[in-house]
Amino acid sequence: MYKEKILNVLRSSCSGFVSGEELARTCGISRTMVWKHIKSLEREGFGIEAVPSRGYRITSAPDILRPEDVRRGLRTKIIGREIHLFHKIASTNTLAMEMAANGTPEGAVVIAEMQTGGKGRLGRTWISPQGNLYLSVVLRPNIPIHKAPLITLTGAVAVASAIRTMCGLEAGIKWPNDILISGKKVSGLLTEMSAEQDRIRHIVLGIGVDVNMEMGELPPDVRSLTTTLAAEAGAKINRTALLQQVLRDLERWYQKFLNNHADVLEEWKKLNMTVGNRITVSGAGEDLDGLAQGVDSDGRLIVRLEDGAIRTIAAGDVTIVKK
Ligand code: BTN
Repeated sequence: MYKEKILNVLRSSCSGFVSGEELARTCGISRTMVWKHIKSLEREGFGIEAVPSRGYRITSAPDILRPEDVRRGLRTKIIGREIHLFHKIASTNTLAMEMAANGTPEGAVVIAEMQTGGKGRLGRTWISPQGNLYLSVVLRPNIPIHKAPLITLTGAVAVASAIRTMCGLEAGIKWPNDILISGKKVSGLLTEMSAEQDRIRHIVLGIGVDVNMEMGELPPDVRSLTTTLAAEAGAKINRTALLQQVLRDLERWYQKFLNNHADVLEEWKKLNMTVGNRITVSGAGEDLDGLAQGVDSDGRLIVRLEDGAIRTIAAGDVTIVKK
């Protein structure tokens, strides 16, 4: 707690420097204790300069996510009411599902700096090196089970909107849940659910965003289809600020979804890059070629085949055929 206070005072100092004496007085602790907390901040990766007659000054901050920083100024009511941040775990989705089964409240968020067993859709692996965002949110919506896929669409709207706000990039959505920039994937969402026959116990919405990682971290076949926000923006992105915006936008769109599903579908359609295009679909039982005609009220993709027949798809991999 004192360490956080010292950090806040140093961060908000106009000249940058704050004397040890002033830090000690502000926190109500001894100068020796101030020094100990400064050393602890240095161990976390902060660069701190100490100049005899002026005091301490922050010279660099580590690119790490800190729960206190995420909470500060978040201003959400539900999403992020609990934040569990880990350095390295297998999968935030797996842990969030376990926590949800043990009663963790709606809005709890599990975040990791790295995942060793990150999960993607259709049983794939989500490669999860340092520098990106990996988070899973526990939700307990009171909706019919067949409406659950709309939660993924809600998440996709929130992530695309947060990227647009924070990075000024034209993020769009490829059905059902890929966020693309310049035709390349920058984010994916994986929804997992626990349900009884007619009732959802909980849903975990998992979000991975490729933010600052080096592209060399990815295998060559994935690399050509993927981009990062830093590569698109031409500068490193502040992950804490982006994470906060994702949580804020998720709260906003989740509330809208609970009030009226149609609002989310309308926004999803505005951001979507699939409908209106010729597409191929795999992983949906049979492989299909056709025109993506729309999404229905449950978020399923409506495809018109060459012979005019209509297919409605709940899950699958879409490739947009270049014109
Ligand atoms: C996809 O295949 O596009 C979905 C990828 C979802 C990845 C995220 S990263 C955080 C969360 N934890 C996981 O294991 N997967 C999701």
